[in-house]
Amino acid sequence: MLLKDLILSATLVSLVEVANAWSPTNGYAPATVDCDKNINLTRAASGLSESESSWLQKKDASTKEALLSFLTRSTTNFTDTSLLDALFKNSSDIPRVGIAASGGGYRAMFGGAGMVAAMDNRTEGANEYGLGGLLQGTTYLSALSGGSWFASTIVFNNWTSVQEIVDQMSDTNNSIWNTAQSPFTPGGTNNTITTERYANITSAVNDKYNAGFPVSLADVWGLAFAYSFFPTLPQGGVGYTWSTLQEIEQFTNAEMPFLIELTKVQKANGDSVDLNSPTVEINPFEIGSWDPSINGFSEVKYLGTNVSNGIPIVEGKCVEGFDNVDFFFGTSSNLIEYIDASNVTTYKYLINELATLFLGNQSTSSTRDMALYSPNPFKGTSFYDKSNGTVSEYVTDEELLMIDGGSDGQTIPFTPLMRKERNVDVVFALDYSSDGSDSYPNGLSVVNSYERQFLDIGKNEAFPYVPGVDAFVELGLNKRPVFFGCNSTNLTDLAYIPPLVVYLPNAEYSYASNVSTFQQSFDVTERKELIQNAFEAATMGNMTKDPEFLSCIGCAVMRRKQEQQNLTWPEECEKCFSKYCWDGSLSKSTSVSNTTSSTSNNVTYSNATGISGTTAVPTADISSSVSSVVRSASATASSNSSTSARSTNFGTGLNINRGFLLFSFVNIFLSII
Ligand SMILES: *[C@@H]1O[C@H](CO)[C@@H](O)[C@H](O)[C@H]1NC(C)=O
Ligand SMILES: *[C@@H]1O[C@H](CO)[C@@H](O)[C@H](O)[C@H]1NC(C)=O
Ligand SMILES: *[C@@H]1O[C@H](CO)[C@@H](O)[C@H](O)[C@H]1NC(C)=O
Ligand SMILES: *[C@@H]1O[C@H](CO)[C@@H](O)[C@H](O)[C@H]1NC(C)=O
Ligand SMILES: *[C@@H]1O[C@H](CO)[C@@H](O)[C@H](O)[C@H]1NC(C)=O
Ligand SMILES: *[C@@H]1O[C@H](CO)[C@@H](O)[C@H](O)[C@H]1NC(C)=O
Ligand SMILES: *[C@@H]1O[C@H](CO)[C@@H](O)[C@H](O)[C@H]1NC(C)=O
Ligand SMILES: *[C@@H]1O[C@H](CO)[C@@H](O)[C@H](O)[C@H]1NC(C)=O
Ligand SMILES: *[C@@H]1O[C@H](CO)[C@@H](O)[C@H](O)[C@H]1NC(C)=O
Ligand SMILES: *[C@@H]1O[C@H](CO)[C@@H](O)[C@H](O)[C@H]1NC(C)=O
Ligand SMILES: *[C@@H]1O[C@H](CO)[C@@H](O)[C@H](O)[C@H]1NC(C)=O
Ligand SMILES: *[C@@H]1O[C@H](CO)[C@@H](O)[C@H](O)[C@H]1NC(C)=O
Repeated sequence: MLLKDLILSATLVSLVEVANAWSPTNGYAPATVDCDKNINLTRAASGLSESESSWLQKKDASTKEALLSFLTRSTTNFTDTSLLDALFKNSSDIPRVGIAASGGGYRAMFGGAGMVAAMDNRTEGANEYGLGGLLQGTTYLSALSGGSWFASTIVFNNWTSVQEIVDQMSDTNNSIWNTAQSPFTPGGTNNTITTERYANITSAVNDKYNAGFPVSLADVWGLAFAYSFFPTLPQGGVGYTWSTLQEIEQFTNAEMPFLIELTKVQKANGDSVDLNSPTVEINPFEIGSWDPSINGFSEVKYLGTNVSNGIPIVEGKCVEGFDNVDFFFGTSSNLIEYIDASNVTTYKYLINELATLFLGNQSTSSTRDMALYSPNPFKGTSFYDKSNGTVSEYVTDEELLMIDGGSDGQTIPFTPLMRKERNVDVVFALDYSSDGSDSYPNGLSVVNSYERQFLDIGKNEAFPYVPGVDAFVELGLNKRPVFFGCNSTNLTDLAYIPPLVVYLPNAEYSYASNVSTFQQSFDVTERKELIQNAFEAATMGNMTKDPEFLSCIGCAVMRRKQEQQNLTWPEECEKCFSKYCWDGSLSKSTSVSNTTSSTSNNVTYSNATGISGTTAVPTADISSSVSSVVRSASATASSNSSTSARSTNFGTGLNINRGFLLFSFVNIFLSII
């Protein structure tokens, strides 16, 4: 039988192929390995890890050179270059740059790629009419959901460039981002190929399950996308571990930035995820959270080890291989839970079908839709805020249930870059969310991140003032680059002075880049056009709309350090700031409403956003957008499902109707991430 044969051949493959630093099984299954008898895998979130700190020393040296070159180019027309000279006299005054790549499915993947390409000195044209070199001067790259597809692809293909990907872009098997077909119907009309792919995925998930780890549709999800991100690796990098990053040359020599991917934790009782849910970051060394409810980190390499208060239950034995690259970006982009939580019968049915198809009896209905991080790395620790006398459930639960990093409405992964400990001076926010009615952004994601600091869970984070969504749209701040938090003296009421935010929204230049999120296959031309348009959106149309844009970006990069040192602010920068900084006004007609009255946080919050009330709104927004998508797609799917042979089992071959169902289903996923 086909499935059995394939499982067998997959097993043989994993026995012969040996690659360094991969999963010990060389496949998707984690395995037990020896580790130090005295090992303690967890720590409190009291600061950066030693590994990150020592990597930063190397990185700072490398960004110094790159930023000097970038800023020299951006200040060539300045009459007074004393600011640059002063900043580069002392290594501790070199600005630190972060980039945050939003979610938004394939739109965000291609869009994030084009914007980052505009900052990469390896991109054709980036050094002439782009922000070339800024990427080389960037210390942190955070990503979630569709953004994590982009970031994982670049980072885990040995820091390849978008230019290289574009140069080899085609519909052949070895081409990165060959999205000619949906990840769930990779064969197109050729069911032989699709069936074989399903068999490969099922076999991988079986391996993990048989090794003693619970599996869910999140495993399937990540593995399905991986084939087009890592086409040169066996089965899309089925054995590729995240901690391999610690050995990738371009990381150890600090050529690439520090990658951080985000995911959210869902409560075991099924409560929906909102701004109060913990944000978990996965970085090259650790997985963990800065939030009060999980305030600790655990070594990412040994994730999957059964621990109590950080110590392996079996002395000297740890698990390796759980930290699968595909599983991690699958987790960061996992919105399956939202569909499953909807009360639409058709979608309950579809989830059942999918679970049966790929997981058989290996999952339970309560957890089939969430990424299962079991055992819980924080079990038995005391890493949470004890001030209200409640024990955090996240240190008592047997497993952590994870879903899409943007599912709380923060579609741009700001959190890790805003942390005071990381000392970032400027964050470039690449916004490809579709919160606006036209599938372009409307600023909601930024507003959500701003609001979180006024909730209990966000009390230790700071974010610059922003207007509410209505004002955001009315002022057109969602259509062009905007700087937030330009003036530190306006931010002294916050927990600390946060980085300046350079907001770069998806906007139409040469291509209508609000591509339907229902679209899951892109021909070569579309892919290139989305990337090119993003380059333009990040550069004011190759600088044609503003020849001084490069200078202005340079000013944004230097601002915090200039303020800290009280250095002379060049007149060119003053001019730039009057052009690009949000000036605190809430509408075109009414003049400035100062958002920074030194009152309590609650008052400031309602003043600044123009949204009344003291609690966050995103959950409602997300569920309503999900349910509208679900409603509109519902009719199509149920007409498809009526003819499907429900008893057909995947092992006997792919049933066409089932494939069709799946196809409609995936359309829905893609419409909301
Ligand atoms: C492991 O290390 C953490 C952080 O230092 C500490 O809080 C915890 O108690 C340690 N675990 C054990 C069992 O000693
Ligand atoms: C890009 O920047 C890096 C770091 O400054 C530098 O080493 C490299 O030569 C530059 N490459 C190009 C093509 O300019
Ligand atoms: C990255 O480079 C290493 C060393 O050259 C190579 O073995 C590995 O296959 C490369 N990985 C990818 C994904 O191309
Ligand atoms: C489907 O793909 C397989 C494998 O590439 C190939 O052998 C077969 O001829 C294709 N079938 C059709 C109908 O194109
Ligand atoms: C399935 O896995 C085998 C073994 O790695 C590989 O040769 C084959 O190309 C895969 N097929 C598909 C359709 O992914
Ligand atoms: C305080 O306790 C409540 C339960 O009563 C809990 O939901 C909340 O997360 C706790 N807050 C913090 C900061 O731990
Ligand atoms: C879903 O249906 C159940 C049972 O009818 C009901 O209790 C629950 O409130 C519904 N949930 C939503 C989100 O409508
Ligand atoms: C920043 O704000 C302070 C007062 O809040 C003001 O004196 C100063 O001129 C402002 N600087 C800029 C560059 O806007
Ligand atoms: C930007 O430059 C590219 C490459 O030269 C060109 O194809 C594109 O039309 C330019 N776009 C704009 C808006 O000038
Ligand atoms: C410098 O000025 C020239 C001539 O006005 C302009 O074309 C160029 O874009 C400027 N460069 C920067 C970095 O502002
Ligand atoms: C900053 O510099 C200005 C002159 O450049 C000076 O008037 C002012 O007192 C300085 N402020 C601080 C805090 O050093
Ligand atoms: C910053 O503060 C100044 C003076 O208090 C005020 O005029 C200005 O509007 C504020 N800017 C913003 C962006 O809030």
